[in-house]
Amino acid sequence: MNLRFEPSAGLRGELRAPPDKSISHRAALLGAMASEPVRVDNYLKAADTKATLEAVRALGALVEVHLKGIVVRGTGLREAREPDRAIDVQNAGTLLRLLPGWLAGQQGRSFTLDGDDSIRRRPVDRVMEPLALMGAHLTARDQRFAPLRVDGGPLRGITYELPMPSAQVKSCVLFAGLLAEGATRVLEPIPSRDHTERMLLRAGVPVERDDAGVTVRRADELMLDDIVVPGDLSSAAFLVAAGVLVGGSRLVIQDVGVNWTRTGFLRIVERMGGIVVGDLEERPAGLVGEEPVSDLDVAAGALQATVVEPPEVPLAIDELPLVALLGCFAEGETVVRGAQELRLKESDRIATVVEGLRDLGADIEATEDGFAVRGTGGLRGGVIDAGGDHRLAMMGAVAGLASSEGVEVLGMDAAKVSYPRFLEDLEQLVGA
Ligand code: S3P
Repeated sequence: MNLRFEPSAGLRGELRAPPDKSISHRAALLGAMASEPVRVDNYLKAADTKATLEAVRALGALVEVHLKGIVVRGTGLREAREPDRAIDVQNAGTLLRLLPGWLAGQQGRSFTLDGDDSIRRRPVDRVMEPLALMGAHLTARDQRFAPLRVDGGPLRGITYELPMPSAQVKSCVLFAGLLAEGATRVLEPIPSRDHTERMLLRAGVPVERDDAGVTVRRADELMLDDIVVPGDLSSAAFLVAAGVLVGGSRLVIQDVGVNWTRTGFLRIVERMGGIVVGDLEERPAGLVGEEPVSDLDVAAGALQATVVEPPEVPLAIDELPLVALLGCFAEGETVVRGAQELRLKESDRIATVVEGLRDLGADIEATEDGFAVRGTGGLRGGVIDAGGDHRLAMMGAVAGLASSEGVEVLGMDAAKVSYPRFLEDLEQLVGA
């Protein structure tokens, strides 16, 4: 579906952010590993997280879908069933990288994970390596890409230093650690989102965190309380960007998850001069089990350029395309460094963001590990091809509202991967 977004007057109104994708994936997976039924309220019903429900069903869990959420009746930690065909992760990178951690410890059973064309271009060797060190048997096409086969067996705990900041790899190793002999420690040079650690803590697993990383030990079973999924900051970020960029805007986004490992974008926006008021979590001294939420009160502001350095990148990784967009409207040169991981997302997001925005009139160039954009005070508009990447589609829509001539987004339906109500929500705010 191709859709035009015309220049808009201020966005106004209040709405709830859609449920968090990262937390929904983890809730369904940990629910499948748990010994008692787990109720997950506000589960995200989007393409990616529906793929996770299908995956856990294929592994023997029962999932009821309700109006307000889901109930997962799991198999238990060591009793995943061997499916009779490949598990289809569709477009979900998080599912592709997290699930093997659980499956690697299912003794005597084999599993194959496969997905769409985009998923087949995204590397899985990043999880194969630590799992192999734990004693697991995995094979993949060219030892790097899906289809990925996992032959479950006994695992041993390891200490693993992440070669790249990645919450997906960290979570995968922690899942495997629940099934391994001894302690499993993941060293994380730069912190990444910690939803898995928080949820494991709530499930009664002793999780220890210090400045260098996180440690888990073998668990007999998981006992999860009911989970309420907060709003997704990564989805809300598109509305925040629209509110900041379109003059005269004032909007309130309710119930947004503001775990400090996710709020990097809001700190960047503030630094640039956008107005976002919310009760953001301070970095806690130890590990906490709760996911903090806040309303975000957003208004347009005059923007200044900023520099995003590597330690900030994992805390804003999925929002960096929006930093590029904001940079087009800011005074000065906005630079992002240390974000080479963007090349391995649903698209090569350094190339697709730079080419996409340049076609709309931006003065932007790619670097090996990020981009530099010189603000010209606005954006002309034109046509952008989402290329199947949900975040690129939504960035194009926001660019259109803030542009002077409007933007046509080719492949707008990609938004359904993470934010199925995106168009309705935007319509509500534009029309209010
Ligand atoms: C995610 C982690 C990030 C992020 C992705 C979701 C997660 O990926 O980009 O959208 O839920 O763990 P990496 O772990 O590859 O950085």
